[in-house]
Amino acid sequence: MTPYLKIDHVDKSFHRGSRETEVLKDVTLGVERGEFVSIIGHSGCGKSTLLNIVAGLLPVTKGAVLLENQEVNEPGPDRAVVFQNHSLLPWLTVYDNVRLAVDKVFSGRRSRSERHEWTLHNLELVQMAHAKDKRPSEISGGMKQRVGLARALAMEPKVLLLDEPFGALDALTRAHLQDSVMAIHQKLGNTVMMITHDVDEAVLLSDRIVMMTNGPAAHIGEVLDVPLARPRRRLELSSNSIYLRCRQRVLEFLYERHSFVEAA
Ligand SMILES: Nc1ncnc2c1ncn2[C@@H]1O[C@H](COP(=O)(O)OP(=O)(O)OP(=O)(O)O)[C@@H](O)[C@H]1O
Ligand SMILES: [Mg+2]
Repeated sequence: MTPYLKIDHVDKSFHRGSRETEVLKDVTLGVERGEFVSIIGHSGCGKSTLLNIVAGLLPVTKGAVLLENQEVNEPGPDRAVVFQNHSLLPWLTVYDNVRLAVDKVFSGRRSRSERHEWTLHNLELVQMAHAKDKRPSEISGGMKQRVGLARALAMEPKVLLLDEPFGALDALTRAHLQDSVMAIHQKLGNTVMMITHDVDEAVLLSDRIVMMTNGPAAHIGEVLDVPLARPRRRLELSSNSIYLRCRQRVLEFLYERHSFVEAA
């Protein structure tokens, strides 16, 4: 059976003048509905490039991305992205940042009051309803990421694409937000593809970890199953043998590729 999301023999090269850089070579990956998949690999190997291809923000050089058997090659509300750097519109309130996306996706299908309720519901989901009238400059980095997440979730995407969503946050805020994402995933059953540099984050959140080789011409080196029961609690996992084995395997993979790894 074809997976829900399929990255099918994707190659990606960038051209500048006569110079060609081959970034991705023959990347194939299937993601099942409701699955949480992380992509890990060294800086510059092509993770964001891959995510942007799935988002429809970059064209493939060869191959295709299929979502529910339909080829996707442009951005759409069925694939919502949360980037590392808060991409909220600074002149709009927290509420309006989410409402804008809700109106864009649901204006023909839901009434004004339904859209209002739905906006508030998603802000509540990320515990940000209390700050709905603030502007992005008035809230912290972690809060901005929560709002970005609310905006993405409010679009009811088929796939949630996260590009190092916690990368710019301090460790405590990061842990809180990871817990929120796990709780939301548990509750809504979203299909998630997340890029991270952080081995512990990958093991804690994922059903599978996709490990990419170093570029140029990066490809998938190994895919690791994380057979840990959910819900997962970070404190209990630190002595869990499955957790430790998965963590070890990812570290080995990254170090075998002879480069540094953040937060190892
Ligand atoms: N628009 C572009 N034009 C030319 N080269 C690009 C472009 N975007 C990315 N690249 C190159 O593609 C390679 C992969 O970049 P990408 O941003 O996908 O890496 P990454 O794995 O996300 O890195 P990081 O972990 O640092 O975010 C890099 O060598 C980068 O210089
Ligand atoms: Mg990147």
